[in-house]
Amino acid sequence: MYTQLEQRGMSEPPVNVSTLRSMKEKGEPIACLTAYDASYAALVDIAGVDLVLVGDSLGMVIQGHDTTVPVTVDDVVYHSRAVARGLRRAFLVADMPFMSYTNPEQALDNAVRLMQDGGAMMIKLEGGEGQVDIVEHLARHDIPVCAHVGLKPQSVHKIGGFKVQGRESKQAQEMLVVAKRLQDAGADIVLLECVPNEVGASITSALEVPVIGIGAGPEVDGQILVLYDILDITQGRTPRFVRNFQSGHDSPLGAVQAFVQAVRERKYPAPEHCFS
Ligand code: KIV
Repeated sequence: MYTQLEQRGMSEPPVNVSTLRSMKEKGEPIACLTAYDASYAALVDIAGVDLVLVGDSLGMVIQGHDTTVPVTVDDVVYHSRAVARGLRRAFLVADMPFMSYTNPEQALDNAVRLMQDGGAMMIKLEGGEGQVDIVEHLARHDIPVCAHVGLKPQSVHKIGGFKVQGRESKQAQEMLVVAKRLQDAGADIVLLECVPNEVGASITSALEVPVIGIGAGPEVDGQILVLYDILDITQGRTPRFVRNFQSGHDSPLGAVQAFVQAVRERKYPAPEHCFS
């Protein structure tokens, strides 16, 4: 019975939370990307990506909104179900959209939808002190959780734009405390967005769970980027941490393989992708 989950016809076993934890322990960088459909999911899986996120960034890159705020649970379930069909080895995480986790009961109902209807293996939510009880409730029900700290795009209208977080030492210290509280509440992964390198490094060394960075410098346990950014599909200005991996490669598969290799060899992010 258990062999289906463990093998799925692959030479390499599927990635799970223990794989990710052991990669952190061994210092093996974890390569992560977003995906929103089955074809790209299969491509990033073949390229060796360890973790695939059905991010609420789909509101911006798929639906054309300016922020992630309009995304609904139905939207994430739809895209997650498609991505799940394309994956064989990679670990699938799905985002809890804006206002889908305002209290523990609502969070549990929506997390169950993402896992049962969307095929997700873990849910991600944007977390602060106010979400500690929610993470605790989900963990008590054995829902794997990724807690997203640092720049939280769902709060863009509250914080006044997509800005680097934790530049002041008081804010950096608070972020560290919150990340630890979320870990202690049961979060299995922390995702850290848009912070100076030293904040990325100090949170990563303080936590036992893997820390995946996006614009969080080189000293985190793994890197994640939005797929359409690395394939140079995104039009207009992209954030400083984005690198165009399509350049110099003649196929999307080549570009994603180059991303995986650069993460594994710690060649990405370079200083020009980092914040101080
Ligand atoms: O929604 C998303 O794609 C994300 C990434 C930016 C990490 O949260």
